Amino acid sequence: MSLLDGKVALIVGVANDRSYATHIARSLHENGCRCAFTHLPGEKNERRTRKAVEAIGITDPWMHALDASNDADIDAAFEAFKAKFDKLDVLVHSIAFADRDVLQPGAFTSTSREQYLAAVDISAYTLLALSRRAHPLMQAAGGGSIMCMSYYGAEKVVPGYNIMGVAKAALESTTRYLAWELGADNIRVNAISGGYLRTLASSAVGGAEAFMDASKEKAPLRRPTEGSDVGDTAAFLASDLGKGVTGETIYVDAGINIVGI
Ligand SMILES: NC(=O)c1ccc[n+]([C@@H]2O[C@H](COP(=O)([O-])OP(=O)(O)OC[C@H]3O[C@@H](n4cnc5c(N)ncnc54)[C@H](O)[C@@H]3O)[C@@H](O)[C@H]2O)c1
Repeated sequence: MSLLDGKVALIVGVANDRSYATHIARSLHENGCRCAFTHLPGEKNERRTRKAVEAIGITDPWMHALDASNDADIDAAFEAFKAKFDKLDVLVHSIAFADRDVLQPGAFTSTSREQYLAAVDISAYTLLALSRRAHPLMQAAGGGSIMCMSYYGAEKVVPGYNIMGVAKAALESTTRYLAWELGADNIRVNAISGGYLRTLASSAVGGAEAFMDASKEKAPLRRPTEGSDVGDTAAFLASDLGKGVTGETIYVDAGINIVGI
């Protein structure tokens, strides 16, 4: 009997083999969870997501296109999911977006209204939008676990992280308010604050490579964060072992967030 036997997860955010969502999918799958996926619209995106998912041993995955900035797209994805599965136990939100022009050290003040709102919309509001559609499906399962991905730049200034730090602060607060409301139906909502991992999204942040060197030198574990560190914490949160944990931001970063200098 595996930890997540009988559970069904919907994972939003697999772009390629480096994505945090891919590491999460691997851990959930290895622990017996049935995983379904969304991908950005378009054949090329579908192919990239499918390749990453199949590489972790999930053959013939259920997949649906989703641009999370579009409410009709979210409705269509959840309708299709509902037609295939009768319940949902785990929702993984692992998406973010900001215009890379304003993700450079010194560029925060130049962020336009449109750039600010787009970052907060796609990186934070979408957690609420997806959770609202997940709610009835999780009620049918007698409860559930929702998780999202955050970063330390939500609470301290990380030069270059800029508007994404603002969006992550909104995401962590959204996590707490959702946890309070959905907790009445035994649905837990948590954020994992992951350490730096080289991915498509993190490569958009100017100077981000230095975060990895900082982790090797300064983190209590003297090493960078690995994708599986986050994946395994996600499996814990998805499982009944995490049944008393909700509304939290859990650091999975080799401990670097506790270091002051
Ligand atoms: N890589 C890091 O160092 C790091 C650290 C902490 C937190 N995170 C967070 O982890 C999450 C995943 O990022 P990642 O680093 O794995 O990079 P990634 O580029 O692999 O994943 C980002 C995902 O966001 C998706 N996305 C962007 N706009 C979307 C939209 N409109 N609709 C649907 N999906 C959309 C992309 O398709 C992609 O799958 C993000 O929330 C990111 O902020 C990353």
